[in-house]
Amino acid sequence: MEIKRTRIADLLKRTDYGQEVLVKGWVRTKRGSKTVSFIALNDGSTIKNVQIVADLEKFSDELMKLITTGACLSVKGTMVESIGSGQAVEVQASEIEVLGTCGDDYPMQKKGQTFEYMRQHAHMRLRTNTFGAVMRIRHNMAMAIHTYFHEHGFFYFHTPLITASDCEGAGNMFQVTTKNLYDLKKDADGKIIYDDDFFGQQTSLTVSGQLEGELGATALGAIYTFGPTFRAENSNTPRHLAEFWMIEPEVAFLDQEELMDLEEDFIKYCVRWALDHCKDDLEFLNQMIDKTLLERLEGVLKDTFVRLTYTEGIDILQEAIRNGKKFEFPCNWGDDLASEHERFLVEEHFKKPVIMTDYPTAIKSFYMKQNEMTADGGSIGYKGIKAPASTMQGTDVLFPQIGEIIGGSVREADYDTLMGEINRRKMDMTHLWWYLDTRRWGSCPHAGFGLGFERLILFVTGMQNIRDVIPFPRTPRSAEF
Ligand code: 4AD
Ligand code: MG
Repeated sequence: MEIKRTRIADLLKRTDYGQEVLVKGWVRTKRGSKTVSFIALNDGSTIKNVQIVADLEKFSDELMKLITTGACLSVKGTMVESIGSGQAVEVQASEIEVLGTCGDDYPMQKKGQTFEYMRQHAHMRLRTNTFGAVMRIRHNMAMAIHTYFHEHGFFYFHTPLITASDCEGAGNMFQVTTKNLYDLKKDADGKIIYDDDFFGQQTSLTVSGQLEGELGATALGAIYTFGPTFRAENSNTPRHLAEFWMIEPEVAFLDQEELMDLEEDFIKYCVRWALDHCKDDLEFLNQMIDKTLLERLEGVLKDTFVRLTYTEGIDILQEAIRNGKKFEFPCNWGDDLASEHERFLVEEHFKKPVIMTDYPTAIKSFYMKQNEMTADGGSIGYKGIKAPASTMQGTDVLFPQIGEIIGGSVREADYDTLMGEINRRKMDMTHLWWYLDTRRWGSCPHAGFGLGFERLILFVTGMQNIRDVIPFPRTPRSAEF
């Protein structure tokens, strides 16, 4: 009878020794003596290898020569209790077939290659232990996210990737066109005419599904998106991708405090899920990549996140500067915080995650809820904290190692206030007329946030560079594979 292939993850859990099994996978290492070879085989289902024991009397020299690091094998044999392999189970081979040989030009052959080298061979790096672990964790985090929202009554809502509007208003969008770029029609002012383009107007890849998400939330109550987003920002940093995945929940009737509760609860759920479902991979990463990883993950679960206003945050940073702390970038009231400031607050000052709220209007997006103004041009925010100028209910989550992991806000639900802000910014709302209708008909208080999926994976894996937590990173001047 033909036996079915057993995944190595399943095989290593079995104790019915003596059974015939069939395993397939890629050779990690081969060692041995004149009489026996030990082959560590991995099929990607787990970080763990199964040890194949090949008695050299049974297998020809020609065959054994083909069994090199990276080669793909199909092995039939008996599952036996193991004493030496580090696992409970090993396979005494009775038949070995080499499905794919692998020469010494295999780029992943040597151990200890740099991550930069691995990026240049991103098509093969998935077969290494580290990238296997990261990709399995990535999958598990996606499952955590869908499970969390499903269990909490959110509907998975699909927003378009091609759009005519710029949600963040930052103008860093990738254009989508079928026009012949050598022969562009322009009007008298030299502006490109798009009426003969595929969509009859200028379109781009979305930077965020939020605006359409708000349409969903103000109809279905609570939705979330989970899809790719695109930003043509020329930031060559270990935290930015040009194509990244974002999770954007949007909820009707949610206020500022409840928004922060949701941000904290959601992110803790994801971290707990990783600890519960990815034990082997996390232990591997803790040992090989970052010895404080598990401690940091446990720490996030224990701590209650600090909640403070931007104004209070600036005071702390200024105090630190007075005490001799040096930052590369300025952080006066009104400045956008750099990652060094965020990390100082989280890693050195509070030593726990921070939810920062009530940012200056000038550095945030048009759609955020405005705080109440005072007669002297200031504003009153969270817990009655006063700010020197107008502020908005933006609530970002700042994390150790990462800096900003979540960007969110309460949305401005009042039509006139929202229009006032749009006019003040001189925004072109031609392609956003539908968004304003949510405030004209049955407007409701609502709030939401965006979690950068890869930033979550960075945190959960302890990896240092965002290019190493997505299979095929897209960054400035790099779109290989
Ligand atoms: O703070 P951002 O720009 O917020 C928005 O896009 C809102 N519309 C979200 C919302 O309220 N629905 O982006 C949200 C998160 C950031 O906190 C960060 O984690 C991630 O997305 N992010 C990036 N991740 C990787 N590469 C980039 N270039 C990123 N830009 C933002
Ligand atoms: Mg942000």
